Amino acid sequence: MKSDTILVTGACGQIGSELVLALRKQYKNVIASDLKEPTGELKESGEFVRLDVLHKNGLSECVHQYGVKQMYHLAAILSATGEQNPELAWRINMKGLRNMLDVCTESSVQKLFFPSSMAVFGPHTPKVNTPQYTVMDPNTIYGISKQAGERWCDWYFQKKGLDVRSIRYPGLISYKTKAGGGTTDYAVDIFFEALEKKKYTCFLKEDTLLPMMYMPDAVRGTIELMEAPAEKITVRSSYNLSGFSFAPAELAAEIKKQIPDFTIIYQPDFRQSIADSWPKSMDDSYAKTDWGWKPEFDLSAMTKDMIANIEAMQETV
Ligand code: NAD
Ligand code: SER
Repeated sequence: MKSDTILVTGACGQIGSELVLALRKQYKNVIASDLKEPTGELKESGEFVRLDVLHKNGLSECVHQYGVKQMYHLAAILSATGEQNPELAWRINMKGLRNMLDVCTESSVQKLFFPSSMAVFGPHTPKVNTPQYTVMDPNTIYGISKQAGERWCDWYFQKKGLDVRSIRYPGLISYKTKAGGGTTDYAVDIFFEALEKKKYTCFLKEDTLLPMMYMPDAVRGTIELMEAPAEKITVRSSYNLSGFSFAPAELAAEIKKQIPDFTIIYQPDFRQSIADSWPKSMDDSYAKTDWGWKPEFDLSAMTKDMIANIEAMQETV
C-alpha cells in the first residue's frame, strides 16, 4: 500500500464515490470530503471530513492536520445546473479551485488533480475528432469556468511549480451514484428507467452525438495520469480523453437488445443547445502518447455491464 495521504473533495458525487474506493485499494489514507454525508461502502471504507471548498481555512486545516500530499478536486456544479444558477456555478467552480490551488502551494500538497470537461469547447470548435489545441469558445457558465480553471492550473504549474494534472472528461456513465446535474445525465438515467419502467423520455434529440465514457475507464485513466512520471506530462492545462461516441437513438437500440420491450420518446429541453455546442468526438492522442491512455469499454460492453450491475443492485435491495 502506498503511504501518501490523499484528500478528495466532492467525494460523494458520481466520480468521487467510485474514485475514492479505487484509490483506497492502493493508498492507506484516502480522506473523502463533501458537503453531504457519505453512504454505504464510501462511508464504511475510510475517513470522511465535511468540507466546503469555498472555505479555504477549513481546507487548509484539514491538509495540515492529516499531512495531505495529493488532492483530487472534484467538487463542482455541472453544466445543466450551472445554466440555471450561473452565480453559484461560477463561485463554486472558480473560487473552489482557487482555494485548492492556493492551499496546495501554501502547504505540503505536492500534486493536484482537476477534472475539466469537453464543455471547454464551443460552437466554433471543430466537432469531429476535436483536437487537443483548437478554437475554444465555451458558451455555458460551466464550460467557461472549466476553461478558466484549466488556464489557472497551467499558470500554477508554470509560475509556482505545482504538479497539477487534469483530464477533459467526456460524459461519464455509471450505476453506483446517479449523475449530478449535467447534460449527459440522460445516458445514466435511461438505464434506471429502462429497467424500472421499460420506457424513457429523453431530453436530447435522438441524433445528438456526444463523446462518452464508462466510469471504470474514467477512474483507471485518472489514477494512471496521476501516477505517470512528471516528465511524461506535456499538457498542464487538461488532456482530451475519449471513450466512445453515441447518440440517444443508438444507446436506446443497444438497450433494446437486452430489454426488447423498451421504448424511448424525445422531448428536447434547454440542455439540447448545450449538447449542440459540444464535440461529437475528441482526439485524445496526447493522452495516448504521453501516459499510455487506452479505453477498454465500448458502447456494447458498457451497456451490458450497466444493465447487469443495476439488476444485481436491485436484487439485493
Ligand atoms: P457530482 O455533481 O456528482 O458531484 C459533485 C460533488 O461536489 C457533490 O457530491 C456535491 O455535494 C459536492 N459539492 C458541491 N459543492 C460543494 C462545495 N461547496 N464544497 C464541497 N463539496 C461540494 O459531480 P461528478 O459528476 O462527480 O463530477 C466531479 C467533477 O468532474 C466535477 O468537477 C465535474 O465538473 C467533472 N466532470 C464530470 C463529468 C461527468 O460526466 N460526471 C464530465 C466532465 C467533468
Ligand atoms: N457530463 C458533464 C455535463 O454534462 C460534462 O462535463 O455537465
